[in-house]
Amino acid sequence: MEIILGRHAGFCYGVQRAVELARKTREDLGEPVYTCGPLIHNEQEIRRLEAEGIHPVDTPPPGACVVIRSHGIGRTDREALQGAARIVDATCPNVTRAQELGTQWYDQGRQVLIFGDFSHPEVEALCQWCGPDTRVVRDLSDLRELPVDRKLAILSQTTQDEQRFRALVGILQAMAPDLVVGDTICRATRTRQEEARELASSCDLMIVIGGRHSANTNKLFSIIWETETPVQHIEQASELRKEWFQGIRRVGVTAGASTPDWITKEVVVAMEELKNETVEEKSAELTMADFDLSSSDESFRVGDIMKAVVVQVGTEEVLVDIGAKSEGVVAARELDNIDEIQPGDELELMLVRKRNKEGAPVLSKKEIARRKYKIDRRRQREEMYQKFDELNASMEEKKEFEVEVKEEVKGGVVVDIEGLRGFVPASHLEIGFVNDLSKYVGQKLRVRIIELDKKKNRIVLSQKEILEEERETLRAETWERLEEGAIVEGRVCRTAKFGAFVDLGGIDGLLHISEMGWNKVEKPEDAVNIGETIQVKVLNVDRESEKIALSLKELQPDPWIVASTAHPEGTLVEGKVLRITDFGAFVEIEPGFEGLLHISELAHERVEKVEDIVSPGDTVTVKIIKVNPEEKKIGLSIRATLDKPEQQPRPKARKKVAPRAESSEFQYSTEEEASVTLGDMFGDLFDKKEEE
Ligand code: F3S
Repeated sequence: MEIILGRHAGFCYGVQRAVELARKTREDLGEPVYTCGPLIHNEQEIRRLEAEGIHPVDTPPPGACVVIRSHGIGRTDREALQGAARIVDATCPNVTRAQELGTQWYDQGRQVLIFGDFSHPEVEALCQWCGPDTRVVRDLSDLRELPVDRKLAILSQTTQDEQRFRALVGILQAMAPDLVVGDTICRATRTRQEEARELASSCDLMIVIGGRHSANTNKLFSIIWETETPVQHIEQASELRKEWFQGIRRVGVTAGASTPDWITKEVVVAMEELKNETVEEKSAELTMADFDLSSSDESFRVGDIMKAVVVQVGTEEVLVDIGAKSEGVVAARELDNIDEIQPGDELELMLVRKRNKEGAPVLSKKEIARRKYKIDRRRQREEMYQKFDELNASMEEKKEFEVEVKEEVKGGVVVDIEGLRGFVPASHLEIGFVNDLSKYVGQKLRVRIIELDKKKNRIVLSQKEILEEERETLRAETWERLEEGAIVEGRVCRTAKFGAFVDLGGIDGLLHISEMGWNKVEKPEDAVNIGETIQVKVLNVDRESEKIALSLKELQPDPWIVASTAHPEGTLVEGKVLRITDFGAFVEIEPGFEGLLHISELAHERVEKVEDIVSPGDTVTVKIIKVNPEEKKIGLSIRATLDKPEQQPRPKARKKVAPRAESSEFQYSTEEEASVTLGDMFGDLFDKKEEE
C-alpha cells in the first residue's frame, strides 16, 4: 500500500502564527496566558497548549495577558478586553482584512452579507465588524427575503468553498447590480482543497485528519466525498481501522489547517505499521475476533444493525448488551444525546468494530445515519447517471420536452427536466432577443437538449431551436400557397411610417399605407393594430427578393360604387361645398363621393361668378343629373331643383330719358333698368287713384 501525504496538509500560516505567538508570549511573560475561546480547532493541540500554560477561557481574568485567536474576535468583545494587562493579537491577517472590509462597507452605508457558517467563531466575530444588519447566507434560499433597495456587499468566511461562493455571487449580481464583492477566501484553504481533490482522484482511499469542529477539515472531507473516493475522517491515529485498508493500494492523507504536524506524523506512522501487517495476519485476527465476540454469535459482522439494551450510562460512553459475550461500548459522541439515555432503554446501533483494546464490541448510533446518508447519496447519484444516459438518447433523437421554469438566474432560466436541473440560456429562449427573463418563471417551455455533461451535472436546453425549425417548415408551406390575388390571413407584427408588416406564416408581407383603405390613412396605426389578425389580398409575390405586397383596400367595397348605387341619376341629395373653381363647385355627397356642380347648373339665370351663388362649407340641395361609373364622375345641379321662372314679355324699346338732378336716386344705366316704366315703379299709386 502506497501512502501519499498532501504537501499542503496541516497547519496553515495563520494558525502556525497564532500558536507560535501564544507560546512566545507565554515564554516571555513566564506566567499563564489566556485565549478567548480555543486558540485553534484541535482538541489534542489545545490540551498540549493548556499543559504549557495557555488556557482557553470565555472571559479572561482581570489583568491577565490575552491572546486573540486566529479566527479573531468581534468589535464589542475586543472593547471588553480593554482591562487586560496585555493583548496579543494573533488574528490571522486574512481574517483582519475581511473585518476591515466589512467595517469599511458598513461605514459606506452598505448592508453586508457574509457567505459562511453563522455559528463559526470567525463569522460570529465578523458580524460585529460589519454592522447590526449584517446577514449570514449559505445558499439561494437565504437570499429570498433580501431587501433589494439596499446597497449590498458580500464577502466570504475565509475557509469556504470558492466555487459555491462564486455561484452565489453570480445570482446576487443579477438581483443587485451595484453589489460589491470581497475576495476573502484564504489562498491556503484554496490550495489545500484543490490538492485534496486532485489527490482523491488518484487514490483508492483518503484519510482526512483534523478536529471534528474544524470547518476547514469538514470542508476537505465533503470535497473528497463528492469525488466518490472512499474517505475517512479521524482526529488522531488511534481511530484508524485496519479493515479500511483491505484491498487498498494507494491511500492519500490530508489534514485540516488546525491539525498540528505531530498528529499527522502519528497517523502516517500508524498507517505504515498497518501496511506492514500481512493479509494472513489480518485474516487470523478477524477469525479470532469473531470467535472472541461470541462463539454463539459468529454471524455478527461489522456494519450489522442490531437492537441493544442499555446496561450502564457513563459520561463518556454507554455500555450495552447486544447478546454477545462482552458488553458493547458506545462513545457519547456516537449517540444523539447521552443525557436522555437510561439503563434499560433499547437502542438501535451499528457494530463498527468487533472489539476494541479491551475486547469489547464498539457500536454507534450516528454511524447508522452516516451509512444511510452514504447509501442515499450513492443511490441518488446512480439514479442521476441513469437519467443522464436516458437524456443522452433523447438528445440524439432531438426529443422535445415540456418543462416548467423554476427560477431566473444570470444569463437564463432554470427548469426542471425529468427531476434534474436544466439551464436554458436567454439566447435560446426565443428566436429574437429576450430582455425580461422574470416573465418566464412559472411558464412552460418546449425544449430540446443541446448540451449534456454528466460529470459536471450540466444540462443545457433550447426552445429557440424548435421554434426556428418550425418557422422554416411554416415558411416553406406559406410560399407554396402564396399567389397573386389570393386572400390570406396574417398577423400584424410591426409598423413603419410607410405601412405595416404582416406575418403570413413565417414570412412577412408589406401592407403599404396606400393599400390600407379607400380613404386617405394618415398613419398605419389608424388602420391596423400590432398583434391583430387580419385578412389581406396578395397583390404581388416576388419569390426572388422574397417581397410580398398586400392590400386591405382591395377587400373593402369601393365607396364610390356604393354611393353611386345609393344615389342614382335624378335623386335629390344634400351635399357640402368642398371647394370652388372658375367652372363650378365640388360638392361632397358622402365621404369620398363628390360631384361637380358646374357653373351653368347653379341657377337658371346666367351666373358670372360661382362664389355669387355658393361658398366652400355651404350645405346645398342638389340633383344628381349624371353618373359615369367608368370615370367615377357625377354631375350635380342646383338649377334642376329650382322652378323655371316665367318668361316676361319683352317691353318695347323706349327713348332714353335723361335723369333730373333732383331725382338722382333713379338712374338707368343699364339696358334692363332703362326698360322699367313709371307704371312698373308706381303702378300701386295709379291703381289707387283709379279706385278713388
Ligand atoms: Fe488564516 Fe487561512 Fe489559516 S485564513 S487562519 S491562513 S486557513
